[in-house]
Amino acid sequence: MENPPTLPASALSPEEADRLYSRVARLMTRDHWDAHFRDDIAAILQLKKERNAVILAHNYQTPEIFHCIADIQGDSLALARKAQGLEADVILMAGVHFMAETVKLLNPDRTVLIPDAHAGCSLAESITARDVRQLKARHPGVPVVTYVNSSAEVKAETDICCTSGNARRVMKYAAAQAGTGRVIMIPDEFLATNISRDTGIEAITWPGHCEVHELFTPLQIKQYRRIHPGVVVIAHPECPPEVIEAADFSGSTAEMIAFITEKKPQKALLVTECSMSDNLAQLNPGTEFVRPCNLCPHMKRITLKGIRHALETMQIPVEIPASLVERARASVERMLAV
Ligand code: 13P
Ligand code: SF4
Repeated sequence: MENPPTLPASALSPEEADRLYSRVARLMTRDHWDAHFRDDIAAILQLKKERNAVILAHNYQTPEIFHCIADIQGDSLALARKAQGLEADVILMAGVHFMAETVKLLNPDRTVLIPDAHAGCSLAESITARDVRQLKARHPGVPVVTYVNSSAEVKAETDICCTSGNARRVMKYAAAQAGTGRVIMIPDEFLATNISRDTGIEAITWPGHCEVHELFTPLQIKQYRRIHPGVVVIAHPECPPEVIEAADFSGSTAEMIAFITEKKPQKALLVTECSMSDNLAQLNPGTEFVRPCNLCPHMKRITLKGIRHALETMQIPVEIPASLVERARASVERMLAV
């Protein structure tokens, strides 16, 4: 496919530029937006039309990506669901590699692009297909529930996938279907422990951790509560169990957004990746966000310039070995059907 010419910043009309800037106006000055983002946003919007492309953005993407160029935003579950049956020829994932792989599994005939091949995930990297086969051999008959934060080769060894948004439901379903009362839940030890506590279903775990969420501590939360009396603390279930115990609510990134939107707390502490608070601050001016900032280095490899380059060059297409596709897709589809 020929690379189309990219248009200069003037391709954004003044009205269009005003409209797009207004989506991030609480987070940055107009001068900053004009100087650093306007050109790339104009080019990306043009390229999306030329390529018949849609951009999916995870909730951890920076505000100029999340609010100014994304067509669909969400947590891992929403992105997997909404990716199904998209009309576009090209789907660009502004997120990490396992998310792009999941989209490719559900859209095998479309071109799925990830702007940076090194946008990985410490959880996905913690376990191999061989590890899963060994676990299954040690625990015959116990169903394998795998967090979507995993590679296609690991998904191919899996009975059913889950996300942080449906982990309780999937765990109960898998245990009931197998009649075992326990499941192998990999690779996130903390997610498995947290959900196992909620459901009362025993989980055989794997020592994988999210390098962002494992850093939070109950002491930090205690100190924030002292400095900000009345603050509502919301933690992602990838946090250690003692952090979840110290929080007021735990949920996926989409459940965090729903909580803030519905309950409108005066002050909130989101115990998760930094960009969540930025993206939500723009949409919820009535809530003050206290920010214990831990950045995901993988999510932050995705930039406007990288997205522009990916759409100009059609790089990097996600490919999944044919030997894995059917089995890996089945584990994701079983999850979506629950
Ligand atoms: P969510 O599915 O809650 O968005 O989580 C994905 C993730 O990678 C969190 O670290
Ligand atoms: Fe993986 Fe953690 Fe980054 Fe999410 S925040 S992509 S779990 S390393």
